[in-house]
Amino acid sequence: MPKKIFGSPQPMSESAPWDLLVDFYRERGPEAWRSGKVPHRMTSNGYLADVYASVAGAFLRDWSQGGGKETPLILEVGGGSGLFAWLFLNRLMRHQPTGLAAPDFEYLLTDAATSNVQAWHEIPRIQRLVDNGPLNTGVLKIGGEISVGASSSRTWAESELTSRPVVLIANYVLDSVPCEMIRIRDGRVFQELIALERVDRQDAAADDFRGLKPRFESRELPQPYTGHAGVNEVLDGYRELPDEMCIPVPLETIAFLENFLKSDFPFLMLAGDLAYTTPEFEQEPPLILSDYVACTVNFHMLGKIFERWGGGTTFAQQADSHFAVGAFFKPSQSVDVPLTREAAHHCLYHFTPLDAHSIEGALGEHSGKLYFRTICAWLHLVRFDPHTAGWCLPHLVRIVEEGEPFDRTILRESLLEAYRCELPEASGEKSLDTGIAYLFVKARMYEETVQLLTMSMPERGPSAERLYLLAVAEKRLGREKEASRLLFELLESEPGYWAAMPGAEGTPTEVVEWLLSAEEDDLHLDHIMLRLSVAEFSRLDALEKPA
Ligand SMILES: C[S@@+](CC[C@H](N)C(=O)[O-])C[C@H]1O[C@@H](n2cnc3c(N)ncnc32)[C@H](O)[C@@H]1O
Repeated sequence: MPKKIFGSPQPMSESAPWDLLVDFYRERGPEAWRSGKVPHRMTSNGYLADVYASVAGAFLRDWSQGGGKETPLILEVGGGSGLFAWLFLNRLMRHQPTGLAAPDFEYLLTDAATSNVQAWHEIPRIQRLVDNGPLNTGVLKIGGEISVGASSSRTWAESELTSRPVVLIANYVLDSVPCEMIRIRDGRVFQELIALERVDRQDAAADDFRGLKPRFESRELPQPYTGHAGVNEVLDGYRELPDEMCIPVPLETIAFLENFLKSDFPFLMLAGDLAYTTPEFEQEPPLILSDYVACTVNFHMLGKIFERWGGGTTFAQQADSHFAVGAFFKPSQSVDVPLTREAAHHCLYHFTPLDAHSIEGALGEHSGKLYFRTICAWLHLVRFDPHTAGWCLPHLVRIVEEGEPFDRTILRESLLEAYRCELPEASGEKSLDTGIAYLFVKARMYEETVQLLTMSMPERGPSAERLYLLAVAEKRLGREKEASRLLFELLESEPGYWAAMPGAEGTPTEVVEWLLSAEEDDLHLDHIMLRLSVAEFSRLDALEKPA
């Protein structure tokens, strides 16, 4: 049992929740996401990756157009599953919104938990970017000083991190960094002290956070309230506010950020979190003790610190502390960041990642008929996010089966793009390719089926479904010899494969001949659908069927 759980109240930053949290992430590693225990769809999705890529791309252009020489670093902290990094890099490297290639950069993906960093290297798509692309990994724990350890690919001196322009990506991680809690009441300033008590079984697991109950005490603070002049100034500003309120004060995060703010290079932070972007704080400390531990972040104060260093921020016009995204930027003496400011305003001010996520959620819960155009609009809105594409597949199958009109080019481009963006090992989802190939075959898009499966087989392996779908497509394209070869390969790898297929009897040669002679409308695909076990396909039954 960690020693600080019980006992006398102490400052928030020194209290037990943060230690418990670091242990939790270290021990769970990637399971935290795969099990769904820690929510991550809000940040690890195509739309947020696209917004960040647009703003980061503008920052890279500001630097290169300003005559900067040093290669910028994109540093992701608390990278978790690695899915966001993959989505973001896909977007930045392949689809610059301007159509221009992104200027050179390096990407350093980090996390405090070594288990997460190790797990990234087991993901082939990530490892390929480490071997041949701009990606490096390392262990980095936010807490004052910067140090990156145990990088699998190279070591990083602190000066390498700060003597160049930096884009810092921080999604759902600043809420895990120890902070202080200050209460303002009647213009007076108090420090909140916290003690944790276990109110359920005393032998409960240390990371069973729901059974922990915080008890707070207030201690009046004289001036200066903290050792940071800028923070004290912001707190003095909050004293003017009329209501009693509890304010998170992220001193450790500020110390970390000031390593970059004080360097003479432009700096950009893109952060998404539970966060206050305006000084509308609550009366109770915003500490969450549930499946994980988190504390709402004070983006408003971080913004004021950026302003002290000559920088600025863009937040959404409509504040929502459940999820806020902020672009925090600071130009250098010699290079300004006008494109960054413009891109941040364009991407974040009126319509935000939270809005996109809400729309996505509303459509995801829709169980009625969706038309092809609606699905295309949805896929476009979420920037071909693979998870959403998975939800669209049953709707698309229905459209094809019922002979509704659809556009082949749009179907091909949207779904191939979704496949290129996915990282199933990190998200715990099934690979999309068999579901898409099934749809393509149903839609008689055989060239597209071959294109997709010849891309996915080397990555995901020659499963029975892939071999079968590819054989069907090859046969329909008139390449009977290749189809036959694939069917024999399938039969060799899984001799019992035909058991569920009505009519498939005899020796392997007879079965292959029988399959090859099947008519176009008799593709024996239903057993594939049963075996795909793509969870989304079960939703087909739930769709409203026409009378
Ligand atoms: C809620 S997860 C977010 C993961 C990912 N960014 C996302 O949005 O899905 C928080 C991650 O931050 C890491 N973390 C926690 N405290 C940290 C700290 N002080 N410094 C760096 N990473 C930390 C955890 O190991 C975990 O992977």
